[in-house]
Amino acid sequence: MRIGLIGTGRIGTFHAAVLERYREVGSLVVTDADPERAVALADRIGATAAPTVDEIFSWGVDAVVITAATSAHGELIGRAARAGLPVFCEKPIALDLPGTLTALAEVERAGTVLQLGFQRRFDAGYTAAREAVRSGRLGRLHTVRAMTSDPAPPPAAYLPLSGGLYRDCLVHDFDILRWVTGREVTEVYATGSDAGPAMFREAGDVDTAAAVLTLDDGTLVTATATRCNGAGYDVRMELSGELDTVVVGLDDRTPVASTEPKGPPAASKPWPGFLERFAPAYEAELVAFVDVVRGERENPCDGREALHALRIAEACELSRRERRLVRMEEIPGG
Ligand SMILES: NC(=O)c1ccc[n+]([C@@H]2O[C@H](COP(=O)([O-])OP(=O)(O)OC[C@H]3O[C@@H](n4cnc5c(N)ncnc54)[C@H](O)[C@@H]3O)[C@@H](O)[C@H]2O)c1
Repeated sequence: MRIGLIGTGRIGTFHAAVLERYREVGSLVVTDADPERAVALADRIGATAAPTVDEIFSWGVDAVVITAATSAHGELIGRAARAGLPVFCEKPIALDLPGTLTALAEVERAGTVLQLGFQRRFDAGYTAAREAVRSGRLGRLHTVRAMTSDPAPPPAAYLPLSGGLYRDCLVHDFDILRWVTGREVTEVYATGSDAGPAMFREAGDVDTAAAVLTLDDGTLVTATATRCNGAGYDVRMELSGELDTVVVGLDDRTPVASTEPKGPPAASKPWPGFLERFAPAYEAELVAFVDVVRGERENPCDGREALHALRIAEACELSRRERRLVRMEEIPGG
């Protein structure tokens, strides 16, 4: 199988190395808007560099992996769909809902595969939490706490192309919330703070966000995110029901320090970032994509699933800007 990968930045570099190692991928072609970056990566991992995106489509690939900046996703998804090619695309599908719906329509018209990179669906902890909810072990859920804390802000140039903290970061928590609980969000109230580094204010974004979400069975959810968590990369989900409570992401690398005399010791090697914390999950989602392309498994996260997560992010953004509760029916595309 020959795969074309578009975008050789932080996540593209990681995904390319996984694909290059995977025996089912006979040949990997990488490209980037910055051709030197693509050549440097290709040389490092033994792939082929293509000078532009055009060659990815004209050199004859069997599938496309899109790891370019979010602002480029919609157009590239449409192009791959029109070429009849299956696509793995990093989240989110596009920067906004109209772009997302246009890309989805192209994929559905072409009848091609679109798998989104919500890698938490392949994480052992989230998978076990899903089983705990669905088996009834927790009893009726009453509270879920979801959080994503990045250790440091991304480069300033990333922000205007990212879609903002809800669409770029909390969208992971929204996707996994639906996946773990099997429920839909009915309403949200969200707020945010730009009291940290000035680049967030300048980009019209926030560095820290919090949302309260209500699920269709009455479960209450808090979701928080920050780009400024000096202790390390901290992604957790706590689910409490009438019978029991489970926590995802609590282990000897969780970057928290207990203030209790008999509390657990602080992590000696806290998670430094998403690439370390989710390495096995990133690898598993790409192996799954290759299996999907080979027709050997169902798509584990299609475009409609990604649309649901983005709609929740849109509702939060609206709630933050207008300082009010937003019901999901207000958001198009449902
Ligand atoms: N699933 C995850 O946990 C996760 C983690 C990080 C990033 N992401 C997603 O991956 C995408 C890339 O993020 P990143 O952190 O690697 O960003 P990055 O800025 O490090 O890399 C993006 C790359 O895309 C290239 N690029 C931009 N427009 C292009 C175009 N039209 N054609 C070809 N190349 C283009 C840039 O030159 C750059 O090299 C984003 O959509 C982001 O949301 C997902």
